[in-house]
This record gives sequence, C-alpha cells and structure tokens, in this order.
Amino acid sequence: MIKVGMAYYPEHWDRSLWEEDAARMKALGVHVVRLAEFAWGRMEPEEGRFDFSWLDEAIDVIARHGMQVILCTPTNSAPVWLYTDHPETVQWGRNGRPTDIGIRGHRCIQSPVFRRYAGRIVDEMARRYAGRPEVYAWQIDNELESNHCTCPSCREAFRRWLEEKYGTVAALNRAWGTDVWSGQITRWDQVQPLLAPDCLPDWHNPAFMLDYERFAAWCTADYVRWQRQLIRHFDPDAIVTTNSCFCGNMPDFHQEFAQLDVAAYDNYPPMDVPEDPETLYSNAFALDFIRGFKRKNFWILEQLGGAGGCWSPMGVAPEPGMIEGYAMQTVAHGADLVSFFRWRSSCSGAEMLGHGVLDHDNRDNRRLAEIGNFCRRLEKLPALDETGLHSDVALLYGADQEFALKNQRQSRNFAYWTQLKLFHDACMGLGVNVDVVAEDTPLDGYKAVLVPTHYVTDRALAERLEAFAAAGGTAVLTNRSGVKDAHNNCIFGETLPTAFRKLCGCRVEEYDAIGERRMRIASVNGGSYLVTGWCDILEPEGAQVWARYTEKFYAGAAAVTKNAFGAGRAYYVGAVGERALYRALLTEIFRELSIPVVPGLPDGVEVTTRSGAEGCYRFFFNNTLRGKSFALGERRVTLRPLEMKIETEGGEWL
Ligand code: GAL
Repeated sequence: MIKVGMAYYPEHWDRSLWEEDAARMKALGVHVVRLAEFAWGRMEPEEGRFDFSWLDEAIDVIARHGMQVILCTPTNSAPVWLYTDHPETVQWGRNGRPTDIGIRGHRCIQSPVFRRYAGRIVDEMARRYAGRPEVYAWQIDNELESNHCTCPSCREAFRRWLEEKYGTVAALNRAWGTDVWSGQITRWDQVQPLLAPDCLPDWHNPAFMLDYERFAAWCTADYVRWQRQLIRHFDPDAIVTTNSCFCGNMPDFHQEFAQLDVAAYDNYPPMDVPEDPETLYSNAFALDFIRGFKRKNFWILEQLGGAGGCWSPMGVAPEPGMIEGYAMQTVAHGADLVSFFRWRSSCSGAEMLGHGVLDHDNRDNRRLAEIGNFCRRLEKLPALDETGLHSDVALLYGADQEFALKNQRQSRNFAYWTQLKLFHDACMGLGVNVDVVAEDTPLDGYKAVLVPTHYVTDRALAERLEAFAAAGGTAVLTNRSGVKDAHNNCIFGETLPTAFRKLCGCRVEEYDAIGERRMRIASVNGGSYLVTGWCDILEPEGAQVWARYTEKFYAGAAAVTKNAFGAGRAYYVGAVGERALYRALLTEIFRELSIPVVPGLPDGVEVTTRSGAEGCYRFFFNNTLRGKSFALGERRVTLRPLEMKIETEGGEWL
C-alpha cells in the first residue's frame, strides 16, 4: 500500500489540539506523521538538559490513532544557545563572514563542535526511540545543500581533503595548472574556499572550482553517512533517508543517497502551470531524477499542500485539482510514500505565510478534500507499491558536469539542465518511461542511453558506451562531450569529442558558440529545426549525416550524425536544438529499437507505466490547465485539467 504522510509540528500547537488533529488526520487517510525536524530547542532547552516528554506524548497520541511517525533529527535548526555559546557552530556565508543567527539552517555541518552537539542530540533521540513500533522511518536533518560554508573549520577541512587527494602542493599545482596567473600554492593554508560575490566564479581557476564543489558535496554525503550510522547504532533495522530539494548549492545526490536506504524529495510544483517548452515537463523530470538516485521507488517527504511563498510574499492559491493531481503524479513516477506539507499553516514564525493544508482558521477546506480523494484512490490500488517503472531508456546525469558547467558557462542558451530536460521532454512527449541515472550506472537492460554533454571526461564511460553500442544499443551524445579531463582542464592534443570520437564516427572540425543567435539545420529526412547556443561543425569519419547547417560559413556541414557501431549505433547532436529536433531523433531511435511510443500525445500529457508481478498500470496525467483529448488506439481519452486516469492491464480505467 502506498503510504500517505503529513508533516506535523506538535510543538507549535496547544496540547489540547493534538488529539483532534490526530483524529482528523486518521480520518483523512494518513498513515505516517512526520515530526521534529526543527525541534532541537524543545528537545534540549539548555545545554545538556534533555526533554523528550512532549515528543513522547505526541507520538503516543499519533499511535493511539493508528498511525506511525517519521522521526526527523532536529539538526537543521540548532538552538540559539548553541550558536551564542559555541560560535564555531555557526555557518559562514560565501562572503567569508558568519551568517545571522536566529533563523534556520545556519549551522556548519562540518564543524567538529557542531558535530559533537548534533551527535549528542541524535544519539539521545535514537537511543530513546530505537526499534519502537511507532517509528516507521527516520529523516536526517532537512533539505541538505552542498556545504559551501566558509568558516575556519571548513577551510581547514577543504585543505585536508586536498592534501589527502594530492599528497603534495606540487601535485596540486600540476593538477590545477596554477602556472596561469601565478596561482601557485606553496602551503596548504593558502587554499581558500570559493568566495563570492567579490568575484564571479568564471574568474576562478576551473580546476580549483571543480575540486571545491566536489569537496562541498562530499561534506554533505559524509554528514548523512555519519548521522545514519548514529541512528543505525541504536536501531540497526531503521529506514533512514533525508529530504532532498533542488537548490543553488546542489549536492551530489547520488553520492548522498548511496549512504541512505531510500531516496526522498520535497515536491513543490509551480502553481503557475508551466506552458513553455523548457518547463513543461520539469516536474516529471524532477521525479524521474529522484527515482534514479537509487534506481528504485522513492518517497516524497514534503508534497504540495497549499499556497507556497515561504516566507513572503505569498504564493498563488493552488488551482482546483492541483493538490490531488500533483500527488498522483508522484505516484505515477514511482513514489511509494507521499507526505504532505504541512497539516496546518503556522500562526507564528517566519513561515506563517507558507500555507499548509489547513488555513489558520482550522476549518476543513478543499485542499483537505483533495487529499482525501487521493487517499481514497490509493485505497483502490493496494498493491501499487509492489510495482515499479521499467525503462528502456536511460538519461545519464553527472554531478561533475553540473558543477563544472555551472561555474564556467560555455555559451548563452546552453546549460546542462536544459540539455538534460530537452531529451527528457522528448521521452515524455512520446509516452516513454525514462530513468535519469548517474553516469556510472550499469547500462545493461537499457536499449537507448542518452548522454547530453559529458564534458568532464570519464574514459571508462566511453568504453562502456562502445560495448553497449557494439552489443546493439543506441548511444546519443551531444556537443561539449569529451572536452575536459578529470581535473576540469582542457584535454590537449586530441580532437573533440576525444574519448567519444570513435564511437560517434565523427570529429568536431570547429565550433561556434552562437549564444542567443538562432539558425536552422535541415535533416536528411526533410525536417527543419532551429538551433541556438552552440554549433559543432562536424566532419564525419564513417558516420552518416543526419542533419546539416544551412547558414553561416559552415552551411552544408554536418550538425547531427548517426554512426553504425557493431550491432548498434551512436548519434551525435552538435547543436542545441528546439524540442522538435529531439522529438524527431528519438522517434527514429525508438522505432529502430522497437521501443513502443504513444503517438499523438498532446503537449503536457504524461504517460508512465508501473508494472510488477501484481499487475501493470498506465498513468495518464494532464499537467495543464486545459482539457485534453486524444486517440489511444481505437479509444479516445479525455482528461480534465490536472486529471490523472489510470488504465489497468485489462484496459479498465480507474
Ligand atoms: C521546504 C522546507 C520546509 C518548508 C517548506 C515550505 O523547502 O523543507 O521546512 O519551509 O519548504 O514550503
């Protein structure tokens, strides 16, 4: 059974409300209540004095109403006494100064002093609640970002990390190429974190920046591993996870979740339903990306429950159907637990304008009713959690690519996420399940592997893709592949796409970073597509030309190629195209590989399939505010705005 959850803050409400709140949640269909991620101040009101009595009581109330809890470690918000009495625990900003205290999230997860106190509160909690039947799972901290803290202990930790990696400053200087601009390091203590905003990232050495991002991501993964160990010490069978979100300081999610038992995400789709192509399937992309963290079903630890806008100004109200529809959408992409945020909007504190399910007046409302509908629908599908998404198509994501390209833009109108999303968009448009997975994922089981912009080169991936194509698979590569070595320096003496040249059967003769300019390419099949951002001028070395440029000094040169490789193929897309280009390419590739598509899907309608021994369910979701109607074989499917229809194996609609 898919579990429904609810974030609840007993510490914000009078004790007299708890019983009624629990009864209402239970009646709604909630199974698990998520507690305590910001409650350290109530658990340890003074240094070393612990008070769990209120939490014991809250858990008892919830359990008495037949629900379990997800307990969160409260380390996101340290109590004020910790910051004032131990200032080494305060996070420092990118400006190289301590952050203001009294808000949340401003602890340094790397500081040994913070670790001492955080370790103690996690220990106390884990010892107390370990193995209790009321505890369904644990959440570590809250929405962890990559550790960009610049405090003295983080500086020290970065230097130690580098010392371990390079051994000597001479080796670091070689790896970073510090002869440019007299950047030689002569002592470890000369290394600084990446500071801003005094200097834009693109003024810094890219090799330094990539190592800094890797270090910052490693800190977060290490923090998660450390907390999981503390919990598991007392509760060896505990399910431990953390709630991820997308942010400016993206961690390396694959590294982070490798330490955890299940992937989890906070899902706040935009309330202004996207209509432009770049964002149309953004939410679907996020969910497919999360599923890829562990290549299995995942949890939503915070799901849209009301108007956003934490902290101010307030966001627009969710349209009717949105609360239910977006919750169903997560299930369609592989969620096995959906926990709404939050039971009731807070009456105090900075977040009072970020709306939960209930408003401040505490009345039943339409948002609550929609969650009720969601629960009733899931009750009709009791074995859904035994099904999963099986994809013939993998879309490879690399944290290194993200880090390197974010700090060193290649051209306007060309960004790593856009590249990924263009391919994902085409899969969605064709109704094909796609896994967004890490670059080191084993490729067996997939028929097509899409690899946009593999920029920081992993030569082992090139070999794996060659073996994959030789055995009959199709690999798709794009512009700016094979550009950098593992240190984020340009590869010398090899022509692009370097490690992928043999696989793709073409070379990049020259390139043109066209930025915001647009021009047309013409495919050999008669298609004409706009491209922007970047143009690789390709010279086939065995590959066929799939499309040619029609303008500038390279009119007539190859823009997209297709190479036969063993029993399979490799495509190379040299430019950043409009959506139709990827749609046309993937239509051809899926036809060649006999991957079934759903033809004629209207824009914004998503089709995904969950299958398993218990059956097969096809989900049709209309992620738009307009009604949609389309032919599905002989039948006609009509979807209201934000409606989800589920088709069983026998062709019955649920
Ligand atoms: C999340 C966060 C929650 C709450 C929510 C409001 O990012 O984890 O604590 O602030 O946003 O929408």
